[in-house]
Amino acid sequence: MLNSFSCIMKILAFNGSPRKQQGMTAHLLDLFLDSAEASGAEVTKHYITELDIKGCTGCFSCWWKTPGKCIHRDDMDWALPAILDSDITVFATPVYHDNIIHYLQRLRERTLPLALPEFILNNGETKHPGRYRKKRKTVIVATAGFPESSAFEVTERLFRDATHIFLPSSVLMVQGKELPIIQDFVDAVKTAADKLIKGENLDDELKNRLKVDFPPEVKEMLIKQHNESSENMKA
Ligand SMILES: Cc1cc2nc3c(=O)[nH]c(=O)nc-3n(C[C@H](O)[C@H](O)[C@H](O)COP(=O)(O)O)c2cc1C
Repeated sequence: MLNSFSCIMKILAFNGSPRKQQGMTAHLLDLFLDSAEASGAEVTKHYITELDIKGCTGCFSCWWKTPGKCIHRDDMDWALPAILDSDITVFATPVYHDNIIHYLQRLRERTLPLALPEFILNNGETKHPGRYRKKRKTVIVATAGFPESSAFEVTERLFRDATHIFLPSSVLMVQGKELPIIQDFVDAVKTAADKLIKGENLDDELKNRLKVDFPPEVKEMLIKQHNESSENMKA
């Protein structure tokens, strides 16, 4: 699919799960990426745990001494230009202790060179303007073990300007394919990928379908199933 400059839409994805391709996060991320690829996008994917990303030292050299350039020499040297070059950046994370995984947080902190030091008010919230003008979209894909959609509260806040794709009780990605709620979610992810590649907006109904929220009776069933399988796992 072509973007507004008549080039192929480029998607750059970073998966923060240390379980890499074995993880539920990878299953969900690949569903989105495969759908985007089928719609004509060029997709590149990285596992953050395989990258050398040093921690931000808070020295602000990237703002004052060497504007736009970090003091560290590591994989962010290519990752920042690649993020800028992408039309859609996709971040994927498991929820760890109610938060995004620290590997992804470390990468996020190192995107400070992409921001300018100034404050601007945006819808009543103070922000830093971007150093570079190109409009890019961000998608956040997250999975959680608990069945509650509230597991994603922090992730939703951290990526408040992104498209959210959230799956609680993430084992259902492989074990719950026959459930209508999972089938609808899978369908919504495919539709969202296609629309984003075509440069279309997602309506509120589709956005809601991308954030699975199990009714109380399903949650109770999922908790029971989890506890039964945990019992069987014990040595
Ligand atoms: C250290 C750790 C902390 C976790 N904390 C939470 C949590 O706070 N809430 C939750 O719903 N799931 C939690 N989980 C479960 C994972 O979010 C869930 O299993 C996720 O789908 C794992 O993704 P992966 O298979 O890609 O590794 C935690 C898992 C680990 C290993």
